[in-house]
Amino acid sequence: MRDYNDFLLEVLVDQESLQKRIAELGAEISRDYAGSKLLLVCILRGGVLFLTDLMRAITIPHAIEFMAVSSYGVGKRKSGGNVRITLDLNIDISEWNVLIVEDIIDSGHTLASVLEMLSIRHPKSLGVCTLLDKAERREVYIPIKYRGFEIPNKFVFGYGLDIDEFYRNLPFIGVVDLKKYNPE
Ligand code: IMP
Ligand code: MG
Repeated sequence: MRDYNDFLLEVLVDQESLQKRIAELGAEISRDYAGSKLLLVCILRGGVLFLTDLMRAITIPHAIEFMAVSSYGVGKRKSGGNVRITLDLNIDISEWNVLIVEDIIDSGHTLASVLEMLSIRHPKSLGVCTLLDKAERREVYIPIKYRGFEIPNKFVFGYGLDIDEFYRNLPFIGVVDLKKYNPE
């Protein structure tokens, strides 16, 4: 994997802006869920960095769980419904107020399936918290309760998001220069 500076077009959200917004989201979530049994469900692997910072910004008691899904079929991004759980939750969520923690919502198909699969388990409530929202790409409606940033239709990486599985560790969100990443 090449040095990311070779294909970094621009820093879209810097470290300071990320942390400031996550602190705001944590405060909001702490107010909204005060006195209730809150479970953060992190969607692996992109949501990991967001989860660990968000949970430190949440001041009320809460539990965490992890879930992983994969899309299959031709045309990954268009496979509405073709989403399979590859790692499931370890607990019965019927007693919990579930808040899904996701890195980015693009077409919305992945999260629509996750919401469907979790809602039939009858959690007390089910909400979505996404760091990034590529709103103009949406193909199915997703009720977003908490949103970090709305972003344009560009391929981004860093802060949990990968480019071919690398660079999830970067503390900022960067835009990939596809001409430099995939030179013709
Ligand atoms: P959706 O089902 O189209 O909403 O796809 C959501 C998933 O696609 C996210 O959870 C990411 O894993 C991936 N994804 C979408 N856009 C990007 C991006 O710009 N960079 C990295 N991953 C992305
Ligand atoms: Mg993801």
